[in-house]
Amino acid sequence: MGKEAERYVVVTGANKGIGLGIVRQLAKEGITVVLTARDATRGNVALESLKSQGLHNVNFHPLDVASQESILALAEWLHKTYGGIDILINNAGIGNADKDVTFETVKPVLDTNYFGVKNVTKALIPLLRDDTPVGARVIVVASILGQLEHLESKDYVKTLSDREHLTEDFVDSFANHYLKDVANGSQKERDWPIWSDWVNSRHGRGAEDYTVSKVAVNAYVSALHKILVAQPGREKKINVFSCCPGHVATDINENTGVKTVEEGADTPVWLALHSPEGGSGKFWKEREVLDF
Ligand SMILES: NC(=O)c1ccc[n+]([C@@H]2O[C@H](COP(=O)([O-])OP(=O)(O)OC[C@H]3O[C@@H](n4cnc5c(N)ncnc54)[C@H](OP(=O)(O)O)[C@@H]3O)[C@@H](O)[C@H]2O)c1
Repeated sequence: MGKEAERYVVVTGANKGIGLGIVRQLAKEGITVVLTARDATRGNVALESLKSQGLHNVNFHPLDVASQESILALAEWLHKTYGGIDILINNAGIGNADKDVTFETVKPVLDTNYFGVKNVTKALIPLLRDDTPVGARVIVVASILGQLEHLESKDYVKTLSDREHLTEDFVDSFANHYLKDVANGSQKERDWPIWSDWVNSRHGRGAEDYTVSKVAVNAYVSALHKILVAQPGREKKINVFSCCPGHVATDINENTGVKTVEEGADTPVWLALHSPEGGSGKFWKEREVLDF
């Protein structure tokens, strides 16, 4: 691989918020960015705003991370248009707007924040160019709410923190177990996320499903690291990172965050550009590793 300009990055959920900040910062680095959004009009408006700022190395393609059809269409287009990509940033995410814990309100949160990340990543891994001198990177924008300290179940904490033996299937079973308990109305009897004073004061009970989705996605990054990276000869080929952007003022929290989107974009962009040695499979915030 030659110049920076020949690198390609895909950012999900990038029509606004932190995703748009990530696109702007990477485009300024001279990397070709594919801005994706589930709504073509919103995506193209974002694209035009970047062009009006002089950033012409950005393209748009639709992507609804909760639709396998949409994911496969993006993968095919990327293959035809660029041949391969260098960086994938899984940023798209939602909260539970109803704050009501029912199967109907919880399922989209898990489908977007966990299964969506996993399905996009699986579909695009074959396109990641792992034969370049700097290798490829997958970044997941997760949350400190996805740290295991927010999970009451000692059994789940033990298994999910056992990086040596953690598998994708186990992470799926964790997410599906939660969905099943919500469908049965039995999640309150079990040990689903704890409600520490800190979580309660900031997010209220309605963030329970969001917390489960972010625990799952953090665990997925650990499991993926084991498959893609932690094998002899695989170092620096593809690295995977999860990270928290901090408490950023965006629509997801009705703009109650304290950071700007440019500040929130900093750690995901830094991981994408620098891929810190020994940092793959770990959870990052403010450019530092935190306990998952
Ligand atoms: N803001 C914070 O304090 C904070 C803290 C920790 C983690 N995060 C994480 O940061 C990421 C970005 O959130 P944000 O704060 O920038 O919120 P935001 O402004 O609400 O942006 C979320 C983005 O995700 C997109 N999206 C939602 N569902 C999608 C789907 N099915 N397919 C494709 N795109 C979809 C949204 O598109 P539409 O415009 O079409 O809805 C929007 O572009 C999320 O993963 C969030 O969980 C945020």
